[in-house]
Amino acid sequence: MAAGGPLLQSAAAAGEQVVYGVIGTGSRGEYLLRHLNGIGAGRCAAVADVYEPNLRKGIQTAKSGKQGYADYRALLDRKDIDAVFIATPLYTHFPITRDALLAGKHVFCENCLVFKPHEVRQLRELAGARDNQILQTGLQRRYSMFYQTARQMVSKGMLGEVTEIHAQWNRNPGRTMLPDQPRERNWRLFREFSGGLTSELASHQIDVANWMFADTPEFITGVGGLDWRRDGRDVYDTIALILKYSGGRRMICSASSMSRHLPFLGGSGKEFGELIMGTEGSIEITVGDDDQPAIGLWFYEAGPVVTAPSDEQKEMAKAVGATITRSGRSARGFPILFTRDQISGEEPFIQREMKYARRWLYSKGIMVPREERNPVDVQLETFLQSCRSGKQPKAGLEAGLDGAATVILADLAMDQGRRVYFNEMEKMARK
Ligand SMILES: NC(=O)c1ccc[n+]([C@@H]2O[C@H](COP(=O)([O-])OP(=O)(O)OC[C@H]3O[C@@H](n4cnc5c(N)ncnc54)[C@H](O)[C@@H]3O)[C@@H](O)[C@H]2O)c1
Repeated sequence: MAAGGPLLQSAAAAGEQVVYGVIGTGSRGEYLLRHLNGIGAGRCAAVADVYEPNLRKGIQTAKSGKQGYADYRALLDRKDIDAVFIATPLYTHFPITRDALLAGKHVFCENCLVFKPHEVRQLRELAGARDNQILQTGLQRRYSMFYQTARQMVSKGMLGEVTEIHAQWNRNPGRTMLPDQPRERNWRLFREFSGGLTSELASHQIDVANWMFADTPEFITGVGGLDWRRDGRDVYDTIALILKYSGGRRMICSASSMSRHLPFLGGSGKEFGELIMGTEGSIEITVGDDDQPAIGLWFYEAGPVVTAPSDEQKEMAKAVGATITRSGRSARGFPILFTRDQISGEEPFIQREMKYARRWLYSKGIMVPREERNPVDVQLETFLQSCRSGKQPKAGLEAGLDGAATVILADLAMDQGRRVYFNEMEKMARK
């Protein structure tokens, strides 16, 4: 633990930059630093990493605060630092988050928030008792306009009863063993340090299901295999999970290291995406990455009974800024529209005409709506703003812990080849 004990940092006054440190400047930490460099709400004061080459890279990347520590506790001892970003391997998330909270820092920790059952309980107790400190989990989909619009469409009943969510995150070849490196540097490939594909990939989509269903699963079952990537790893190279939620709802989720094909979104994406299926419509969605755009397509369920949208459905569509088609054909997806494309009738003539033109181009598939900002930037900025305002984050403690608990149980279900019930976590966490 950092010397100095619990000391609550006063939140920076409104308008003042939040002073932060970044712990773990490997691939993700460096990515976060690059994005943080463009965000005025905060200023980097220092970075920390146990691996010298990455520490050097972090110092180079940081726009300000060119000070580096091998031991993150030295960074936590600095009284001028209000907040930390933690982007270290999963098995270190809990101890570092715990120490940072005890040192009075606000914490942004990468997903998954914790690794072991007892950490779920301990972090809930620790962070729950520290209302003045912000704890945010790196679940960037919760900061995406597409996903937020999808969530509204689900909650307003636009998809009817949402009964099923399918998710896929395939990679080929995915992570491979770094040669001549200790196990810790290959942490993703060993269960001692990571939950494998479940914690590193599927966890983001499991969070989407927990969020869209506004629930955690009743039980989970699945099959994991280590059949193809036999390079000394002990994590599965393929996982297939079924998560059963209350009310007959379920998520079917898979990840493979042998193919990157994505069957959703008309073949326009790769590797990862989700399909949210309801009795009156479905959404295919992906958050995208640096190389591919975020996409959200809405498929209206044409059926023998419902051939055209009702007035009520049209009203609901308007409320979330989505379009609804009279044709009622389910074969073609329509882009999810944001509020900015909604026609209010109040806008000047030119602006209205441009909105009509954009919507026509969207409907023809000539143009797709784009997120105005990368959700990663939005999540980082809103975290820094929360440090000042005290506003609870969208991906806060409970979203992070529910997601992490689901991941732990999913791995257990595959390891033991049985249904694992969510309420088993409580007993496991007491140990
Ligand atoms: N939200 C996302 O989409 C997303 C994407 C990628 C990674 N991640 C998460 O970010 C985290 C880091 O992943 P990565 O790809 O950067 O891994 P990485 O191995 O590239 O980097 C991890 C870094 O942490 C350092 N480290 C290890 N123990 C440390 C300690 N005790 N103190 C300080 N530094 C320490 C390592 O030396 C390394 O530089 C993981 O939890 C991963 O799941 C999230």
